[in-house]
Amino acid sequence: MSPVRNKARAGQHDFVVVASRLPVDRDEGPDGEASWRPSPGGLVTALEPVMREAGGVWIGWSGDAESAPGAFEANGLDLVAVGLSAEQVRDYYEGFCNATLWPLYHDVIAPPQFERRWWEAYVAVNRSFAAAAAAEAAPGATIWVHDYQLQLVPRMLREQRADVRIGFFNHIPFPCCEIFAQLPWRRQVIEGLLGADLLGFQSRADATNFLRACRRAAGLPTKGHAIRVRDTDGVREVQAAAFPISIDSAALEAIARRDETRKRASDIRLALGQPDVLLLGIDRLDYTKGILHRLNAYGELLDEGRLGPQAVLVQVASPSRERVEAYRALRDEVERTVSRINGEHAEVGSPPVHYLHQSYAREEMAALYLAADVMLVTPLRDGMNLVAKEYVACRYDESGALVLSEFTGAADELTSAFGVNPHDIDGLKDAIVRATTIGPAEARRRMRSMRRQVRGHDVASWAASFLDMLRQTPG
Ligand code: G6P
Repeated sequence: MSPVRNKARAGQHDFVVVASRLPVDRDEGPDGEASWRPSPGGLVTALEPVMREAGGVWIGWSGDAESAPGAFEANGLDLVAVGLSAEQVRDYYEGFCNATLWPLYHDVIAPPQFERRWWEAYVAVNRSFAAAAAAEAAPGATIWVHDYQLQLVPRMLREQRADVRIGFFNHIPFPCCEIFAQLPWRRQVIEGLLGADLLGFQSRADATNFLRACRRAAGLPTKGHAIRVRDTDGVREVQAAAFPISIDSAALEAIARRDETRKRASDIRLALGQPDVLLLGIDRLDYTKGILHRLNAYGELLDEGRLGPQAVLVQVASPSRERVEAYRALRDEVERTVSRINGEHAEVGSPPVHYLHQSYAREEMAALYLAADVMLVTPLRDGMNLVAKEYVACRYDESGALVLSEFTGAADELTSAFGVNPHDIDGLKDAIVRATTIGPAEARRRMRSMRRQVRGHDVASWAASFLDMLRQTPG
């Protein structure tokens, strides 16, 4: 790592990614020396290969309060850290992003909180990101802004840099306009987004929700995918369309095929006592993921003896947003539920739930995917869900089964999964039982069709199709 980048490159990047997070995490050695390692997470997994291929600069936040802003290089990438004060972390990140927008955009699964102070912090932080991007971009550059944390950046950028082309991609759902209308600052958010030339959403339904919100919440005319926007310098057309995100499926499959990954997968099964059925859940510990619904369904199946004597559930729940109240409450409830199920069903040395409140490297995740008989992906709402695609990518021998919530973007593409409504506990239980008992021929047929979809639509083609359309959009 080189802590300071050559300043001469500021203002010279033809491609600029602006995302809430940097694609690296900071480690501090005992001597105070900082180093950076690639960070886990869907957004980073999705974008890093694109960044490397296209070159360019990535603007984001390190994840630490009061960390120093500035340009640096890590893992061969040009990065610019935007600094957030402790107050901004509280009001912008924990507040407006994760206690207002996150629950609102996920169909109010948890009640969103509307605080005027948080909105002001959101405006100020979006302004810092926009200023950093404006300073990095070369004349006529392409700037790609990501996700709900930065919805005001497109307009702020356009006001400073009329010469650049601006794309925005929303990684989470865009809610129906009756729910979006609750947001006291709905008009400002729509106007912020409409600073872009092209707006990408995970699904057609999300894009349609946005187009309706433009008409209803901002009174703007739309035609097909286009919204007519009147700026100070005339009338523009902004396009809003679906670009379902994906993963680097070939790279993940290559990890899954390694001897050491396969060995690790069989060691995992051995360590679990060679279960008849190994179920797996891998999620950020988030109330949108339906972890409790899944645990409750599993607990009832154990009560009823429907999974045979030797079933095991491995639930990885990686720590997330731990200072936000709804996340603390969820963690308590998940841990209570795991304890209850284990208390009722464990024998010495063989608990039926292995709960891991940790994050893992990709290699370990690939081994877990390989070890599992059935993958449980049961969100109440999810923009895409890349875990579902990762599982499919790893199952190169075409075995295994995927239970997938119909409220994920992935369900639109992975139609050969066992589709479930996670609110319907009986239906969820039946789907889990079916997934554990299908014959190898049916499993192969389903997995083959899902693998065809994931391999044919990887993250590189996702980025290419968004950037191609952005290039073609009249700027
Ligand atoms: C989701 C969001 C990302 C976010 C990630 C992790 O995938 O779409 O924008 O970065 O969650 O959440 P965090 O709050 O840790 O950034």
